[in-house]
Amino acid sequence: MKFLTSLFLIALFTACNTNNRSEYLAMAESNEFPEMEIIQEHPGKQLMENNCYVCHNPKTSEEAMIAPPMIAVKMHYISEDTSKEDFVKAMIDWAKNPSEEKSKMPGAIKKFGLMPYQFYPEETIQQIADYIFDSEIEEPVWFEEHFNKMHGDSSGMKGKMGRGKGMGRNQVNRNTQLSIEERGMQMAQTTKTELGKNLMGQIQKNGVIAALDFCNIQALPITDSMATFHKSYIKRVTDKPRNPKNIANAAELQYIETFKKQVAAGEEIKPIVTTMGKEVAFYYPITTNSMCLKCHGTPGKELEMLTLSKIKELYPSDLATGYGENEVRGIWSIHFNE
Ligand code: HEC
Ligand code: HEC
Repeated sequence: MKFLTSLFLIALFTACNTNNRSEYLAMAESNEFPEMEIIQEHPGKQLMENNCYVCHNPKTSEEAMIAPPMIAVKMHYISEDTSKEDFVKAMIDWAKNPSEEKSKMPGAIKKFGLMPYQFYPEETIQQIADYIFDSEIEEPVWFEEHFNKMHGDSSGMKGKMGRGKGMGRNQVNRNTQLSIEERGMQMAQTTKTELGKNLMGQIQKNGVIAALDFCNIQALPITDSMATFHKSYIKRVTDKPRNPKNIANAAELQYIETFKKQVAAGEEIKPIVTTMGKEVAFYYPITTNSMCLKCHGTPGKELEMLTLSKIKELYPSDLATGYGENEVRGIWSIHFNE
């Protein structure tokens, strides 16, 4: 039952990806191998930055973290006798179905909540895991101190917890400034988390129908308060609105079409960013998972008739039903100053 509940909860979150930075790593830069040519970086690095760093980013300050930094994950998954094969398998297994039962980081679940499930091709996780196992993962500047506080200042312990493989002292912090894409992703992500947390609490406590009242009343104010927090303007807009206030404008409709094609083709999704002077506009799709269908699915199937009649009562002109899994329900439209 507990398992089911947690499945239910994680499913409330939607997909996320971070920007696509093409950055080539010069081995020579580390001046350990000054004679070495510039080599092309491991494909897993870019995949990790795109898919995982929106939450596991080492550049995020300790207070702003919404998940443990990847180096902490690595340390909990590798001990002295962990083979690369074991490690890769464990990562794939986790990504397929994050659950409390499987967790090696229960403290992180307590602090951040369970990692939301999101579909990743197995090949992607395999590449990412291969990269993490073999390479020095960037460590946040605050990490050393945090680690010592949490686990005692014993280097033996660190060895056991897997800092060993491929990890020297590596406190890099080349660039504390987040890029525009990263800032946009973080705003979308934290707002989603905040909405998800509240919606999830409501469904858990009072069921889907009661949660509808909550969405009805609370979704906009939460988006607003997150916007104030981020000093930006955050909207969730769609081509098929439930709340007519959330209708996309002409430009946004175009982006929705673009994202729909990408999602349908199973392509990697990158945010669309436009700038006008100092003003940045950031767009990123909001995709469905099985849980959304309880309120956005096909009437009589996932969407129960009782729920539907309540929806019709609250939103007489509702268009937001008939969705399947992994479809573009709408987009984040976020505006902020560079
Ligand atoms: C939407 C945010 C988010 C994204 C994106 C994300 N994670 Fe996580 N991840 C979390 C959170 C929160 C935790 C800590 C709670 C937990 O362990 O479930 C976590 C924990 C983990 C853990 C430790 C699990 C455990 O408890 O034993 C692994 C492994 C992991 N993530 C791998 C990945 C990989 C690989 C990617 C990219 C493909 C990724 N994550 C993307 C949020 C995210
Ligand atoms: C408990 C029912 C419920 C669930 C579950 C639910 N929604 Fe909604 N959703 C609503 C309601 C009600 C609104 C209208 C909110 C408002 O008035 O702003 C809405 C609005 C939205 C909007 C804003 C655009 C519009 O149509 O007004 C998006 C985007 C959205 N939902 C996406 C999702 C996604 C993605 C999921 C799953 C992760 C999800 N919803 C799960 C009930 C739900």
